[in-house]
Amino acid sequence: MERQHFRMIAQTLFGLEEVLRAELVRLGARDIERHNRAVSFSGDQGFLYKTNLCLRTAIRILVPIGSFDARNTEDLYLGIKRIKWDQFLSNADTFVIKCTLNTYWTDHSQFMAQKCKDAIVDRFREKTGRRPSVHLHDPMLRIHVHIINERVTVSLDSSGGSLHERGYRQETNAAPLNEVLAAGMVQLSGWDGKVPLVDPMCGSGTLLVEAALFAANIPPGIYRPAFGFQRWLDFDEELYDTIRTAMIARISEARPIIIGGDSNRVTVAKARATVAAAQLEDSITIRHSAFADLEPPDGQGMLIMNPPYGERMDEQGIGGESSPEAIQELYTMIGDTLKKRWTGWTAWVLTSNLEAAKHIRLTPKPKIQLFNGALDCRMLRYDLYAGSRRLTPLPPRED
Ligand SMILES: C[S@@+](CC[C@H](N)C(=O)[O-])C[C@H]1O[C@@H](n2cnc3c(N)ncnc32)[C@H](O)[C@@H]1O
Repeated sequence: MERQHFRMIAQTLFGLEEVLRAELVRLGARDIERHNRAVSFSGDQGFLYKTNLCLRTAIRILVPIGSFDARNTEDLYLGIKRIKWDQFLSNADTFVIKCTLNTYWTDHSQFMAQKCKDAIVDRFREKTGRRPSVHLHDPMLRIHVHIINERVTVSLDSSGGSLHERGYRQETNAAPLNEVLAAGMVQLSGWDGKVPLVDPMCGSGTLLVEAALFAANIPPGIYRPAFGFQRWLDFDEELYDTIRTAMIARISEARPIIIGGDSNRVTVAKARATVAAAQLEDSITIRHSAFADLEPPDGQGMLIMNPPYGERMDEQGIGGESSPEAIQELYTMIGDTLKKRWTGWTAWVLTSNLEAAKHIRLTPKPKIQLFNGALDCRMLRYDLYAGSRRLTPLPPRED
């Protein structure tokens, strides 16, 4: 790849497309287009490195290298075989193929990935007598093949595995938020990085860490041991070092008050270990406290929480009581505590349990749809104005 502009696709989670688009605008991307769970844009090779290092809400950055039409397996095999693969890997290298599809002519993504692998291997064997091999976990090149109806798009994964794996997370016994989702929630909340931010059920501390990174403009990618593009044939180490150094120079001294709380002592210890691994001990304080007892910092600020839903935690056998009554009680306590102690704050609650959320007994607005793993969630906003009509308890529902 030369230093010219080319198209890239940043994939993201449902509901974070607009946040990702705004991040790309701030980073200087060209020709930005929003898609479903993705944003495409143009830039040069340095920009590819920059996006991998800096984007908080991208899961991976793909670089499309070819597209063609296919109506059957044979078309797919021939189309893949025609790509000049020696530009991207040698016969001594390793690769893996991920195939996603939505087409009338097949629903066997595994088998289609196998066919694509055969095409690449056959091309090398015919031309050089030797073939690259498949490595599932640590390949030199990750290839994505997307088949939509009759259109096949072949891309290279420049990230080399999902960018949510920042590299700072330590062991946890909470049901941790995906780092990309946490970073998205921080930005969706509208937090400006200046007023205090509190996550009173912080679990592993992911949201706190992502908030601190956001506030100080710390690139989330600086903790990551490696990106996929660093093993590419065209990797420009000098350019990468220049960009990494420039991004580190843009880190600010901003240290807003960021406080986490959790009622589980072991979880608190693990969250502190994660904060230490991210070298953010001077930015984040974690208290061992039940939410009802947590002292709000002075002034007004942003509270973001991800309480147990009575679903995901239970699968992992943690989270304590999770009978419908216990969950109702928990959400009632959340509502009471918000009303009693957090007047003047803006609170956001992420939950998949909308029945339980009614027990908060405040009117949320807006309700943003997000997915926490497979769980269909809403991020609910409560403006806790003193005496506001939003503090009026809801009448009991009939349904
Ligand atoms: C779904 S987890 C939060 C996961 C977190 N967002 C993360 O990324 O790791 C919910 C957390 O709430 C904590 N918790 C439950 N009830 C609580 C309460 N009354 N006060 C404070 N923390 C509580 C649990 O110990 C658990 O760590």
